[in-house]
Amino acid sequence: DWNMGNFAEDSIQKIKETVGDKKALCAMSGGVDSSVAAVMVHKAIGSNLICVFVDHGLLRKDEGDQVEKIFKEKFKMNLIRVNAVERFLGKLKGVTDPETKRKIIGEEFIRVFEEEKQKLKDEFGHIDYLVQGTIYPDVIESGTSTASVIKSHHNVGGLPEDVDFELLEPLRQLFKDEVREVGRELGIPEEIVERQPFPGPGLAIRCLGEVTEDKLKIIREADFIFRDEIKKAGLNNEIWQYFAALPNIRSVGVMGDERTYSHTIALRAVTSTDGMTSDWARIPYEVLEKVSNRIVNEVDNVNRIVYDITSKPPSTIEFE
Ligand code: XMP
Repeated sequence: DWNMGNFAEDSIQKIKETVGDKKALCAMSGGVDSSVAAVMVHKAIGSNLICVFVDHGLLRKDEGDQVEKIFKEKFKMNLIRVNAVERFLGKLKGVTDPETKRKIIGEEFIRVFEEEKQKLKDEFGHIDYLVQGTIYPDVIESGTSTASVIKSHHNVGGLPEDVDFELLEPLRQLFKDEVREVGRELGIPEEIVERQPFPGPGLAIRCLGEVTEDKLKIIREADFIFRDEIKKAGLNNEIWQYFAALPNIRSVGVMGDERTYSHTIALRAVTSTDGMTSDWARIPYEVLEKVSNRIVNEVDNVNRIVYDITSKPPSTIEFE
């Protein structure tokens, strides 16, 4: 009978036959789709797959190291982590408009990837294939893209068409839950397989106003605590996305006998089936209380926590 194990085996065999001893390149983000696609191709062609992971400095706490550890050390994949942190932050300096931020990040991502591609070509000669984690809903969506753009989405699969490459898209027929199942069959750890959606522009669109290293640090720490407590409360599978954002508001507080004037953290947690619409998650007060206490105690420069209680529409899931 047909299952995801068979699917993986069959696809790996087909990739092997198609690619032969040619080389393939993959832009990896650590997201579910690109990870599963890359591991499949790796099983088929080994080190002839070269993965490029652009670290734009807008990832969550420890995320870059985690990706490197899993795919480079555990799976022994040929993964290049490009440290482009200063580059991205430099480009974002002084920029506050949400769409401009998105455009800058998308364009810079392509630029960094192109440079890596050129280096690899200089080193290896021609690279024939580009691996993309396109899944079935992406195929449908791009076929009907007449809707007006609310936000210009950037994701690592969304590189511009490149005539140099033939595409390898081993997940084109699968829905998200099937991709997860294939991932499990391939031995990809739960922390990747069960990962919540994370936008290509990363924390930049959860850091309202100018993106600075200081603000990113606050978001990272607060977000880490929120995720930790949601997991401890066993709510991680019920909630579609849960994260911390920094609304760029400072307000007055008190600590001991001292007046403070510090940042506000906004917690966002939503239920959804496809990200198109969503409702705010009814997280138990005790969990929110714990998260709030921990953030104000453990994260510097935060003196107020708010919980976002808007659905989509009229809000969007992300803040920008
Ligand atoms: P919004 O904020 O539009 O988000 O309600 C809907 C879903 O899309 C995710 N999102 C993105 N994903 N690149 C992505 O790959 C992006 O640029 C991007 N922007 C938003 C968001 O996290 C939510 O799941």
